[in-house]
Amino acid sequence: MSLPWWKKAVFYEIYVPSFCDGNNDGIGDIQGIISKLDYLRELGIDGIWLTPFYRSPKVDNGYDISDYFAVDRDYGTMADFERLIAEAHRRGIRVIADLVLNHTSTSHPWFQEARSAKDHPKRDWYIWKDPAGGAPPNNWESFFGGSAWEYDEKTGQYYYHAFSKNQADLNWTNPEVKKAMFAVIDFWQAKGVDGFRFDVINFLKTSGKFPNNPYDEKGEQIHRFDKDQEGILETVREICAECRRRPEPFLVGEVGSEDLQILKRYSGKGLLDAVFNFNLGSMEKFSVKRIFAELKRMEEAYTDEQTPTLFFSSHDMSRHISRFGRPPHEVETAKLIATLMLTARGIPFIYYGDEIGMRDLYLDDVKKMKDVQGIAAYEMAIASGKTEGEALKIANERGRDKSRSPMQWDGSEFAGFSDASPWLPLSDQSVHVEGQRKDPDSLFNHYRRLIRLRKAFPALHAGRYRVLRERDGVIFYIRSHQEEKILVVLNFNERSVSFPAGDFLSEGSEWLFPGERRRIRPDEPLKLAPFEGVIVKI
Ligand code: NOJ
Repeated sequence: MSLPWWKKAVFYEIYVPSFCDGNNDGIGDIQGIISKLDYLRELGIDGIWLTPFYRSPKVDNGYDISDYFAVDRDYGTMADFERLIAEAHRRGIRVIADLVLNHTSTSHPWFQEARSAKDHPKRDWYIWKDPAGGAPPNNWESFFGGSAWEYDEKTGQYYYHAFSKNQADLNWTNPEVKKAMFAVIDFWQAKGVDGFRFDVINFLKTSGKFPNNPYDEKGEQIHRFDKDQEGILETVREICAECRRRPEPFLVGEVGSEDLQILKRYSGKGLLDAVFNFNLGSMEKFSVKRIFAELKRMEEAYTDEQTPTLFFSSHDMSRHISRFGRPPHEVETAKLIATLMLTARGIPFIYYGDEIGMRDLYLDDVKKMKDVQGIAAYEMAIASGKTEGEALKIANERGRDKSRSPMQWDGSEFAGFSDASPWLPLSDQSVHVEGQRKDPDSLFNHYRRLIRLRKAFPALHAGRYRVLRERDGVIFYIRSHQEEKILVVLNFNERSVSFPAGDFLSEGSEWLFPGERRRIRPDEPLKLAPFEGVIVKI
């Protein structure tokens, strides 16, 4: 039985404004991406996930769409987009588009019409409520902070926004909304996209009732009534069916939850192909026990029809090298995480720049901050009496600009990203593609070799776990597919270890990684340097 293409694929997330600037206005764009497709082929990835490129006022960097049928002027034209698809496909690279179905920008004409009058036919496309005694309808909080309700003077009602007040939530119980969004899906599929990454797909439905959300013991709101509501799976099913009118789209959902029991409901037959598992990405501290526990939990929770996802960084979180790496072992830890991501069971998503070890960006002035979440955190901190310095620190922690700095291509002034000063400052400029390409031991070449191995050996892209264990800071697993069995041993210790692999090795065993492929004797102990990963065909 042949596997769907995406089960074998390694994906690469491109944060569109930050990858490469083709027209030297300081903002990354589609022409820039086209110019780097050969680089992506050299890296060896199979698919790119493009963050939103549609027309948008960019209050939330494109997750606030004002025209679903147009490419934002900062990023290029529709002709550029069509060329990107053609050029990517010519190189065997598929493209999945990030689609925001939950909310639109408040400057979208739909919202403009909806807000124009209470009896406008589009009014019900969004979620409106009367004030409760002069206050918002309930206590629901926006994910960027503050109330999720915004008062509209003209019509005297509040509208609901799970994110910023410029991102109004659509009312998915209205069939017109569904119809309008299905037209969007059709449009981009006709342009040739190979699938979608659905933004906050579990938020689409509210229950129609609006009880207050409870709080946990730390005083943080539990989002019980504003996501994962009844009927959501039927809606997701319908969306997936619409997409599958064309052959084999890859449908991956961002389900905003860390609860695997919730996450797993969204994928499987008739549903999404996969959902993002935030448990790895949101891990603040480097902990072998926790990484192992998450791998194990995914394995236990998912059925055969469900495929886990593997990622440790994204545009919403800090880069794993900055989170996990401690000098002098930053690069080694980043390599180890890459080895895990590219050999464990699940679909890997590499975040642009992680393959060269780009570091988090720290902004020393709130004026340089672009992320709505960071700015909101700063303002709330100031309002609660914090000093400017404290507020800046909080804003850097909560803000997401840290992982969105421009890709570093070379050692020139603007890192080869642009000839103009970029929209967001560059991070530590000592790492760049040009330098790493030449160095056989670089993180970049480590990624390249692993991607090739993953593709060459079915056990690594299609195999189940035969063994999945952790002992004394070493995670090891055997993945097998038909006759092929591959052992992966990952040393999370700061010291060298000798791993007794005698029970697993045989006369025909072959060392695959790192270094040259060679025969290995069954009694040969595997020696692992600090933070080293080893791969052996057993
Ligand atoms: C999730 C996206 O990844 C994030 O960047 C965005 O701010 C929210 N959804 C709202 O669309």
